[in-house]
Amino acid sequence: MSLLGVLDRIADKPTFDKAIEPVRKAVAALPQAVKDLLHGTWLGHPLHPVLAQVPVGSWVSAGILDVIPATRPAATLLIGTGVAAAVPTAMSGAADWSEQEVGVRRLGAVHAVANTAALGLYVGSLVARSKGAGTWGRVLAYSGLGLASGSAAIGGHMSYSLSSGASHSATAARSLTPEWIDLGPLDDLPDNKPTLRTGEGQGAPVPLAVVRRGARVDAFIGSCSHLGGPLPEGTIEQVRGSDCLVCPWHGSAFELDEGQPRRGPAANAQEKLEVRYVAGRVEARLAGRHTEG
Ligand code: FES
Repeated sequence: MSLLGVLDRIADKPTFDKAIEPVRKAVAALPQAVKDLLHGTWLGHPLHPVLAQVPVGSWVSAGILDVIPATRPAATLLIGTGVAAAVPTAMSGAADWSEQEVGVRRLGAVHAVANTAALGLYVGSLVARSKGAGTWGRVLAYSGLGLASGSAAIGGHMSYSLSSGASHSATAARSLTPEWIDLGPLDDLPDNKPTLRTGEGQGAPVPLAVVRRGARVDAFIGSCSHLGGPLPEGTIEQVRGSDCLVCPWHGSAFELDEGQPRRGPAANAQEKLEVRYVAGRVEARLAGRHTEG
């Protein structure tokens, strides 16, 4: 088994599910506007990895400055900066975690416990430094750095190996061929209701979610950017002033005009196809971002 393969074993085990579930429910019960702020829905990008740079960067830098006696006051300042930034970072991570699949939630619980312990060590380091116990302050800080680094590896495994923060619509879009796809006659598309069409993929068909509003058609990759939910089975709703395609799994809403998220948990945009009308038929193809030349 690989070094981080042990994390997959943890993700498979339901041992602590009963303890984790009440916490997940409490986070999920936060007001939608607060959760969307924490997800990064307003940013069009997950907020947690953006915020996480501050504590990680501050604490790594503090570890270097602590080696040199003359720069230790600066190290203390950086440790304090990391401690202050750890709170909003944890909140954004918790919001994302509460709407992930069960294996990611199990690993996320380990990530959270390790980060909380690291935070405690850094707070202890600040207290020790304020009392003039510099050696203890450094011992606690380096212990915190070790724990936080291990925890960051868990977070990376959740993102890269378990795809917890990746756009699932971008993954599906990558396999779509760049040719125009015939979506059929305009009149065959129901009004204001997502409809399933398929595009040719490299080896397997790619589901598309097609929405007609009168004479206008919008076409999206059918797998929701959040966790791959089936958007052709979703609904059309007005969300925060925009007509949106709403995912049936966790309620993410993507505006029909641009595919930007208007309500989370999705923070990534939904991949959109360009559309043209040829002799009463509708055709779509992927925009240039995923195609060569
Ligand atoms: S899969 Fe979660 S909102 Fe679509």
